Amino acid sequence: MVQLGSISEIVSADEDVLEALSTYILDDGIVAFPTETVYGLGGFASSSKAILSIFRLKGRPATNPLIVHLSSLTKVEDVALLHGSRAENRMERLASRIDPLIPGPLTLVLPARPDSTAPEVRAGGPTIAIRVPRHPIAQAFLKRVAVPIAAPSANRSTHISPTRPRHVLEEFPDAGIPILDGGDCQIGLESTVIDITCDEPTVLRPGFITQEMLQDVLEERVTMAAGHLKHSSTIPVPARSPGQMSRHYSPRTPLYRPEQLSTLLSRPLKIGWVCFSARDAENTNLPQNPPALLRILSPQGDINEAAYHLYSTLRELDNQNLDAIVVDHIPELGVGKAILDRLGRAQAR
Ligand code: TXA
Ligand code: MG
Repeated sequence: MVQLGSISEIVSADEDVLEALSTYILDDGIVAFPTETVYGLGGFASSSKAILSIFRLKGRPATNPLIVHLSSLTKVEDVALLHGSRAENRMERLASRIDPLIPGPLTLVLPARPDSTAPEVRAGGPTIAIRVPRHPIAQAFLKRVAVPIAAPSANRSTHISPTRPRHVLEEFPDAGIPILDGGDCQIGLESTVIDITCDEPTVLRPGFITQEMLQDVLEERVTMAAGHLKHSSTIPVPARSPGQMSRHYSPRTPLYRPEQLSTLLSRPLKIGWVCFSARDAENTNLPQNPPALLRILSPQGDINEAAYHLYSTLRELDNQNLDAIVVDHIPELGVGKAILDRLGRAQAR
């Protein structure tokens, strides 16, 4: 059985643990659980008390709504108002292919059913974000609790999202949170968020499921919301998604592009240098005095592998007492767009 004390603890998802956690959740408890994207910090979506604890634990602004997680779309109408709308039509398309995008790393913004979830989940707004994760332990947990679970990423607001159970422990060591162990998250970047209520479906946050994949399935134009900056030093444009605030997904160590470094190198700096591939690393002039700590996201240059390693690499470097982390060129292919989006936000000051 889980001992629920003041220290957070990694627990394996055995039958008796899931049973104990399902009671705990209905009692307004908070549980961290794995998904294929990142770990989530979950609470009963109908309980204002649970939701307020999540906001407090994260230090998250109340204006930033949460994603509600379901084990399948069967009960989506408990939280969303669909009845024959174009949003329903689009949702069904996304879920009904041979290789469906739902369950998966995709979040849908739908019209909310008022009073079905605590208003804090939606930040008082008229829409609700829902996601059906594919991860087997997320599935087992959601099936067992059998209620909608609101869950942001299991990190303190503006920090890097956790992709391993140990990362969640590092974020909330003393919060008494049970952390369901699902090992490393296979995708490693947060889900794509798409608003399918508007005239043109709009990607509010890029992710593993790309704009092109969505267009193919929906057979209509899909737009990107403003504010998706490249990995650059420019000030971000305010975006529609309330969560797309400028500073986000950040290590504590300042993050730079290589071209910004010349301004920094007036004194010797300890630098962590992140390259996309082994070939990129060979072609880079790494600072030698003192020697930079080199990390390679994907030796062979595979963009999905790079996404998988990104957050754990940034976390690891963040713990090395460096003066700066430099992330070198990342190709804009596939999930590369989402990587660049996150790096842009991690860097914004
Ligand atoms: O992969 C993920 O999405 C992870 C896992 C745990 O599912 N969750 C996650 O949650 O990344 P969070 O809270 O860190 O990010 C949720 C994003 C935020 O940008 C938030 O503003 C947006 O989704 N969002 C939530 N509800 C929304 C709504 N009703 N309308 C527009 N954006 C919404
Ligand atoms: Mg987050």
